Formats: sequence, C-alpha cells, structure tokens
Amino acid sequence: MWVADMDFSVAEPILGALKDRLQHPIFGYTLPPDSLLDVIVERFRSRYAWQITTENLELVPGVVPALNQAIRGLVRPGGGVVTAVPVYHPFLEAPENMGCTLHRLTMTEADGWQFPVEAFGALASTNPEIDVLLLCHPMNPVGKVIAPDVLAEIVEICVQHEIIICSDEIHCELLLDGRHHTPTATLSAAAASQTLTFQAASKSFNLAGLGCAVVVAENPEILAQFKAGGEGIMANVNTLGYVATEAAWSLCDEWHGELLDYLAGNRDFLLERINGIEGLSAGPIEATYLGWINVEGLDVEDPQQFFEDAGVGLSPGVQFEGAGYVRLNFGCPRSVLALALDRIERACKAR
Ligand SMILES: Cc1ncc(COP(=O)(O)O)c(C=O)c1O
Repeated sequence: MWVADMDFSVAEPILGALKDRLQHPIFGYTLPPDSLLDVIVERFRSRYAWQITTENLELVPGVVPALNQAIRGLVRPGGGVVTAVPVYHPFLEAPENMGCTLHRLTMTEADGWQFPVEAFGALASTNPEIDVLLLCHPMNPVGKVIAPDVLAEIVEICVQHEIIICSDEIHCELLLDGRHHTPTATLSAAAASQTLTFQAASKSFNLAGLGCAVVVAENPEILAQFKAGGEGIMANVNTLGYVATEAAWSLCDEWHGELLDYLAGNRDFLLERINGIEGLSAGPIEATYLGWINVEGLDVEDPQQFFEDAGVGLSPGVQFEGAGYVRLNFGCPRSVLALALDRIERACKAR
C-alpha cells in the first residue's frame, strides 16, 4: 500500500482507444497529436477557466524527470531551490541531482499542514540566490489543498523575489468532497508569467506506467529555458501514453466522478479506523488517495518495518522528511483496505 498508483482497472474508453491504436502496427517516434493538445487546452479551460494555447504546452514522459529538467534549465549557476517538507521525495532529490542547494521550509501537523508562508518570505528575503520554488499543490504526502488566499501569498513572495514557481499539480484531479482546484498560474498575470505547471492524467486515471505528462508555461522565455534544460537527456513520450491521456481527459468524466466518490468512502473508512487505534492518528485528507498517519505514539524505531512484519507495506515517513509518520495508499478495493487495517490494528494492539 505504498507506491502512488491505484488497484483499479482503467476506464473502458481508455482501453478502447488503446485497442484502436494497436490496429496501426507502427510504434515509431511520435509527435503529440493535435487532437490531444486541443483536449488539454479545453480541459483546463472548462475545469479551471484557465485560458492557454497549445503553444504553452510541452508533453513530457513524466513529472519527475520534468521537475529535474526544470531545475537544470531554470536555476542559475550557484542558484538555489526551495520546498516545504514533508514532501514527495523526488522534490528533495532533484536539486541535488542538478547540483543545486535545496532550502527546506518545515511544515508541522500542529499548524494543520499549512505551507509556511511567513518562513518562506523570510527565507526569500535573505537568500537572493533562490531561483525556483518546488510547490506540491495539492500536497503529497499530507493530502492537503493549498487555499487560494495562501497560494496568493506564496505567489506574491515569488514575484517580489523573482522566484519561478514549479507547481506540481499532478494530484489536482483527486480533490475530494467536491473541492475545487485553483491552478497556481491562474491567480494573476504575474503568477502566469512566473509559473511552470506540471500536470498529468496518470494519477487520476491510473496511467502512470504509460509515461505521459504535460508542462504548461505561459511565459515563452521560461518555456524555452525549460526546453533547453532537457536537451540531450529527455526521452520522447510513449506513443500509447498520448492515446490514453487523450481518452482519459475527453471521455472518462463519469468514471472519474465515481472514482472520487469511492476514494472519499475509503478515506472516511481509513480515518475512522486509524483514529480508533491507540498510538495512531491521522488528520483530514482533502485530496489524493494517500493517508499520512502519525505513528509517534507507537514508539517503534522503524515504523515501516514494524508494519511490514505485520503484512502491510507502507511508505516510511522519513522518505518524505516526515519522521514519525507512514504513508498509506488507499486507492484500492475497500476489502483490501479493511484487510490492511485489520493487520495494522492487530499489530498495534499486540505491542
Ligand atoms: C507530487 C507528485 N509528482 C509527481 C509524481 C510522479 O510523476 P511521474 O510518474 O509523472 O514522474 C508523483 C507520484 O507519486 C507525485 O506524487
């Protein structure tokens, strides 16, 4: 119950589109189909009132390589990157991969997992070498949505200090309970010109293995710098990834609505069970299919090993710089979740 994909079959229209594509038996290098680019532009317009053009898009084989590419292209020699922890671990690795300094802002559960805006302002004022903010929006692993007013404050600091925002919005179609996602780039003209957005159908339609994601930059200079960062190292997108993404984003809204209802039910079930087990607790989960569970009360040295010994594979909090936590993926049939929770409960009680 660790890596962030789901145990659900993909929607029928995606399978249908892939089967159709297989009738054409050539799988050479392929440019992004115009029909896919149009679907992306229309999806962002209809869901977020975000007006972009196909010129603003770059298709990439994954968000993680694209984040690394962005740092390579956008950070000046000697420049720095900032992010708020706990966070999806490739955010912590990418700056180091590219030879940059990473500045960490720390979030705590006590303040309700808020992006630490004040600390960010102070850090940006004293570290003019910071070129890029890696923003996880919504947040993995803590499952929180960043409210538009907080987002506006983050953008203001970035504009003031000329920090480019790399806004990873890969989980933005997994907002639960009818919440609405606000893309960072839609906040203002300044936000649009200083943001690179990373999106994909991979999390919300369970397509991660097909290798297709999209980067949006409304500022042509930033898009050019991003593209330059990939020269010689970035692979082409998987041909079938284009097909699956287009089907997902144009034909599968009903499947997606049912998915969100099912995940919200799993989330409720998870929170009720976890908060009933002595030594464990979990706060609200507004987005993603990931539960962030505080296990400090158990007082075990290696929580991942403790639960693995009980037959449940979880992600260790330390991987995200969140010691004392584990991350549980509830994107699975409720029966599997129930089995995992039974094992977790039994192990905790026996301790
Ligand atoms: C915030 C975030 N970004 C990116 C990814 C992975 O993206 P990709 O598979 O497109 O590299 C994940 C996967 O868990 C994620 O949680």
